[in-house]
Amino acid sequence: MKNYAIILASGKGERFGSDLPKQFALLNGKTLLENSVEIFEQNENVDEIIVVITPEYKKKSQEILKKYKKVNKIIEGGLTRKESSAIGISSIEENEANVLIHDCARPLLSQNVLNECIYSLNKYDAVAVACESTDTIIETEGDFIKSIPQRSSVMNIQTPQCFKLSLINKAHQLSKNDSNFTDDCGLVVRHALSKVYIVKGESDNIKITYPKDLFIAEKIIQNKK
Ligand code: CTP
Ligand code: MG
Repeated sequence: MKNYAIILASGKGERFGSDLPKQFALLNGKTLLENSVEIFEQNENVDEIIVVITPEYKKKSQEILKKYKKVNKIIEGGLTRKESSAIGISSIEENEANVLIHDCARPLLSQNVLNECIYSLNKYDAVAVACESTDTIIETEGDFIKSIPQRSSVMNIQTPQCFKLSLINKAHQLSKNDSNFTDDCGLVVRHALSKVYIVKGESDNIKITYPKDLFIAEKIIQNKK
C-alpha cells in the first residue's frame, strides 16, 4: 500500500505575526516548508508528498518545492486546518492508502518517529504521536479549575497523525458540520471510528507558533550537530 504524506501549510500564522506566513520563515537556512517537506522526501518509505498551501502563496511554494521529486501535488487549502486536511485527503485517488498528515509548523520530526508511525500503520488503522506531559494539565471551566487529571494519564499530541485513507475520509465526512477540531485524531475519536495507537514522540518535535519557537528550534538543531 502506498504511503502518502500530506503537509499542511495553509495557515496564516497569525500568532507568529510576520509579513509572510510562518511556513516561509527561515530555520537552518531554509524555509519551514522546505524543512518539513525534506523529512518526508528523505524517508524511503514515503511514496508521495501532497502539500496543502495558503492560496496566495501557491506560486511561491511551487518555485521553492521544484527540487523535491516526491512532491506531486501542491493544492490550495481552506480556512481552517480541518478544511485543509480534508482537501488534502480528498486529492488522493486510490481507494486505500496510508496517509500521514503533518503540520508544516513541526519541522523537527525525526526519521525514527516517522518510521515508527509508518510501521505501526501495518497493525493499526489510526496512529498518533504524543509526548508525556511535563506540566500538570488542568481542565477549566471559565476562569476556574474544573478538574486535574492524573499527569500519567495525559499526553501532548503532536503530528504526524496517520490513518488508513478510508477511515480518515469517513471521519471527515461525519464531521462536516463540526468546526472546533484542531486535529484529525479528534474526528476519529469523536465518532469512535477506531482506536488510535500512540507512538511515543520526542519533545524536540515542537510546533512553531510564536517567533521565540524559531529560536528554540535553531538551538535544538545546533545541539544535535
Ligand atoms: N493549517 C492549514 N490550514 C489552515 C490552518 C492551519 O493547513 N487553514 C496548518 C498550518 O499551516 C500549520 C498547521 O496547520 O502547519 C498547524 O496550525 P497552526 O500552528 O495553528 O498554524 P497557523 O494556523 O498558520 O497559525 P495561527 O493559528 O497562529 O494563525
Ligand atoms: Mg491555526
